Amino acid sequence: MTVPLFDVADWPPARLADPYPVYRRYREHDPVHRGVADTWYLFRHDDVVRVLTDDGFGRSAHAVRAPDGGTVPPIPPDYDRLRRVVANWLVFLDPPRHRRLRALVSRAFTADTVHALRPRIAEIARGLVRAMRDRPVVDLVEEFAAPLPILVIAELLGVPAHDAPWFRERAVALQEAGGTRTSRRADAYALAEEAAGQLADYFLRGHDRGLVALLARAGLTEDEFTGTCVHLLTAGHETTTNLIGKSVLALLANPSALDGRRAPTTGEVDELIRYDAPVQMVTRWAYRDTVLRGRGIHRGDKVVAVLGSANRDPCRFPDPDVLRLDRTGPAHRGFGMGIHYCLGAALARAEAEIGLGALLAGNLLAGSAFDVRYGADLVFHGPTRLMLRTTPQE
Ligand code: HEM
Repeated sequence: MTVPLFDVADWPPARLADPYPVYRRYREHDPVHRGVADTWYLFRHDDVVRVLTDDGFGRSAHAVRAPDGGTVPPIPPDYDRLRRVVANWLVFLDPPRHRRLRALVSRAFTADTVHALRPRIAEIARGLVRAMRDRPVVDLVEEFAAPLPILVIAELLGVPAHDAPWFRERAVALQEAGGTRTSRRADAYALAEEAAGQLADYFLRGHDRGLVALLARAGLTEDEFTGTCVHLLTAGHETTTNLIGKSVLALLANPSALDGRRAPTTGEVDELIRYDAPVQMVTRWAYRDTVLRGRGIHRGDKVVAVLGSANRDPCRFPDPDVLRLDRTGPAHRGFGMGIHYCLGAALARAEAEIGLGALLAGNLLAGSAFDVRYGADLVFHGPTRLMLRTTPQE
């Protein structure tokens, strides 16, 4: 059986919302697939692991393609603030710079940081649930899944909660210009350039608490400092919004999954991430020629590891298309793997546990969803609108 060229730009909204049947065809018939623009897509779990853990693959296109010092993702040259901010994101760095910066940032952003934040996360989640109580219809993304992570990140970074909406607007502007949208508005780069400059200036003005204060003393260069602050803001925002939105949809579709009203455990949150990954794919560049399942990948080729497909690979997960909250492993790849493994995984899990727990305790998941819309992005993947009837229909 032949499969068509994998090209997300062609996809209708319904397929974007549920890419799993498509992944399955590629996993079975062309697991190391050369899609549009000579990009390789890897659909099987073991190939995804190989690419994420092999130093023959890296994060920098210009290391192998354009020796002009361009950044990844490629940003047009006029947008200097944006380039400088993004060029210092951990996720786009290779060793040895990556190793040095990750060690410095991890020293400030620890398991204890997340643990200490839990009571505040619970308070924020309860406040948002209170505001939705006694309303027959709510937009769960707008009123809960989006504000919760942004308020938590503000708290983590140590910036005032009243600045959170300002942050969110700018984080969205950066995301809109990202290399992952299937479509992008004409002025996306100009808006992102302005947002990057404003955010960098904001963090440079200095703060005396939270992670921003710790990072300011951590030995980073000025660009690393502003880049890292902005990276944490964006990395922890849309991803967690998507996790909460998708988890709510999965729980509504599987009402027996959670017996009674309680907060999900960490393991249950991990199964929700495996079942429907908020980051569906990550990109690498081949740094040397290699062969994968008989296909020749050349130095300079772009390689996309489809995490969402790896998490549904039946060779690793029995009944992969079934949400089974009591699964005890094996580990999923929703947070990536190897040196770029998500730095915020513990925070994301805590937000989902506490956030979903607050929704269940507020009895907000007893009804049904309608008018669910997905954004035009298969990398950062999730509902952008999720209308919820909060009480069961007669
Ligand atoms: C990296 C997923 C939440 C910060 C990553 C990667 C994935 C991921 C797949 C690896 C990217 C790659 O290999 O190219 C997620 C998901 C989240 C989430 C699914 C929520 C459900 C967060 C949060 C933060 C965060 C809350 C911080 C506040 C980071 C950072 C990196 C990263 C800094 C780069 C690490 C490095 O390159 O060393 N994340 N993330 N993430 N994530 Fe997350």
